[in-house]
Amino acid sequence: MQHNPQPLPSRRVFASLLTAGAGMAALAACTPNNTIPSPVAANAASEVPSASATPSVATPSAATTEPAPVEPAPSSDVPASTAPSHSVAPQHSLTDPASPWVVVNKHRPLAPQDFVPADLVQPRVRLAVSGEASLLNSTTAAAAEKMFGAAAAEGVIMTLASGYRSYSTQVTTYNGYVASTGQAAADRASARPGHSEHQTGWSFDIGDGAGACSFQPCFAEQPAAVWAKANAHKFGFVVRYPWMFHDTTGYFHESWHLRYIGVEAATDMATRGIATLEEYFGLEAAPDYL
Ligand code: DAL
Ligand code: ZN
Repeated sequence: MQHNPQPLPSRRVFASLLTAGAGMAALAACTPNNTIPSPVAANAASEVPSASATPSVATPSAATTEPAPVEPAPSSDVPASTAPSHSVAPQHSLTDPASPWVVVNKHRPLAPQDFVPADLVQPRVRLAVSGEASLLNSTTAAAAEKMFGAAAAEGVIMTLASGYRSYSTQVTTYNGYVASTGQAAADRASARPGHSEHQTGWSFDIGDGAGACSFQPCFAEQPAAVWAKANAHKFGFVVRYPWMFHDTTGYFHESWHLRYIGVEAATDMATRGIATLEEYFGLEAAPDYL
């Protein structure tokens, strides 16, 4: 387990960590959901699925903490993901992985597939991981520092539980889920290589200060997740895989997975009650791979 709760003295470019991180075990996937057996983690490093360390299966108690046992498909009162009245005119590219508005999902793989952000840095926040997983692109890192600071000022401790993930790390992570839960379940929890937002540097997973419910459904009830759901947009973040929208996003609820899109857009989504990037940008739903 790698755990470093101490903020670094300064935010620095960590190109060298890419090399160091390559040798590490695969880092935490944004994972378990409410309907399938899933890896359990006290922290990001220990829940890592890898060829040598197959994740354990979620306990029944963890599963029962979820508000409902099954995540239903969006019903007719849920806005369609492609509702044109909700979409906005793109101010940034939706396809360039270096763009804050890039949309990566099961229909929209990263291009290039082996994209690596040019400006990876380690944010000065409370870290629950080290190596490449502690990195974000510089814009996301700066916004994360503000958000973590604001949360702390209100007494809410947040940790960075999993940030950047290279293509090769995602190979290990995804394969670990497939080995542990089978492919269908894995595809609801972990992106296939080349399809993860974590590879862009625009996304990261948060943990609770005490490590409670990390990457588990019950994390949604922890202070860090409750605070993030209410406040993340003020810092440019959205909860990328919201409750009940797996038919749009392709993934079950991940209350820990935040995605930077900028303060204006995130606030606009929150104000208008738009839950997914697919809907906001007028893109088709991506429940499954094509
Ligand atoms: N858990 C999210 C979908 C990922 O693997 O990127
Ligand atoms: Zn994630």
